[in-house]
Amino acid sequence: MVATTESLQAMSYTREYENGNQQLIELRRVAKSYKTAVGDFVALKEIDLNVDAGEFVAVIGKSGSGKSTLINMLTGIDRPTSGEVLIGDTAVHLLKEGQIAQWRGRTIGIVFQFFQLLPTLTIAENVMLPMDFCNMYARRERTERAMHLLELVDIADHAHKLPTAVSGGQQQRAAIARALANDPPIVMADEPTGNLDSRTAAAVFDLFQNLVEAGKTILMVTHDEGQARRASRTIVLADGEVVNEYLARALPFLAQDQMVRATHKLESFSFSPGEVIMLQDAPPDRFYIIKAGEVHIYLRQPDGAEILVDTLRSGQYFGEVALLRGGVRTATVRSSRKSGVEVIALDQQSFNEVVSESAVTRSEMDRVMAERAAAQTRLRQSPAATQEDDL
Ligand SMILES: Nc1ncnc2c1ncn2[C@@H]1O[C@H](COP(=O)(O)OP(=O)(O)O)[C@@H](O)[C@H]1O
Ligand SMILES: [Mg+2]
Repeated sequence: MVATTESLQAMSYTREYENGNQQLIELRRVAKSYKTAVGDFVALKEIDLNVDAGEFVAVIGKSGSGKSTLINMLTGIDRPTSGEVLIGDTAVHLLKEGQIAQWRGRTIGIVFQFFQLLPTLTIAENVMLPMDFCNMYARRERTERAMHLLELVDIADHAHKLPTAVSGGQQQRAAIARALANDPPIVMADEPTGNLDSRTAAAVFDLFQNLVEAGKTILMVTHDEGQARRASRTIVLADGEVVNEYLARALPFLAQDQMVRATHKLESFSFSPGEVIMLQDAPPDRFYIIKAGEVHIYLRQPDGAEILVDTLRSGQYFGEVALLRGGVRTATVRSSRKSGVEVIALDQQSFNEVVSESAVTRSEMDRVMAERAAAQTRLRQSPAATQEDDL
């Protein structure tokens, strides 16, 4: 077992972008505090975040949790108090004031809750504005491109109207067309459907999904849990902190403040292929959630032979049985011989705190335990399924 360290990560390091970020978007210990009459208010607390090209990330969290602040750091609309914002080959936090708007105009399309179209320009003119500003595309192409984008979001018929002459849903479509004006690789949206009725919201959400399919990378703040589930990843913000994503996925019924407290207690480990993570009959120490790779679960038979009863993957957990019921480990868990495994873990005391504070989590765990036990019983009765060679 190895506690995951910087040096371990460095071994698999492949330099991709100019500032050393391996993914398209990387935040390193980004903090933001606002000066207020009663002193500094910390809106973001040293956030780390990576988003790969092509991902569709939903950002959720209560009002005031820091979602808009996060978007403002990523888009360069505002600057972090400390930390690094790396997007593609650009260190956004180091851009000079005069460079930011041009960089943003070419790199990130932004969609806001209240559309923010210029009221004195027609919809088509609003869409052409970013092209003019960044001097993208030949002047005579711009009108044609604007019309093409408006067709894409299905409001070309209203191109020559002022924004106030169309509905909210149509204004948001226009705002999406404007965000795409310079064909940016990234689109960020701050509650883009927050001001729309549910049917219109669903149609606008579909547009974002089309953009992901067309290869864009999307970060979308949303209040809508249903929308968040349709994204490829969900990031939960709570009190200016990012909840560990694997924890949020494995224990979705924890309250957000419980998730934050548990996130603070998490340890990371990696196990090499075939390594024992926990041993049957040993006293329990930790609760584990799988980040990457697989583990196999074995039961020792009265004759001493081990049988494989289960394989668990990313987002699943193990090690809860003895912690919840008392006594010793009821199974042996090894990392897969093929891949090894990376896990996060809670020590016994932190795990007990989490479970005792969340009755829903406890009953969900009881349900999963019962389900797994039933499946294991079935497996023990059909020994054909336990061939080690299949691993
Ligand atoms: N300019 C500002 N000055 C002072 N406090 C601010 C400012 N902007 C945001 N905040 C505070 O920072 C916290 C996070 O705000 P915000 O990022 O807008 O949250 P969210 O978008 O999740 O609702 C809130 O408590 C908010 O009141
Ligand atoms: Mg907000």
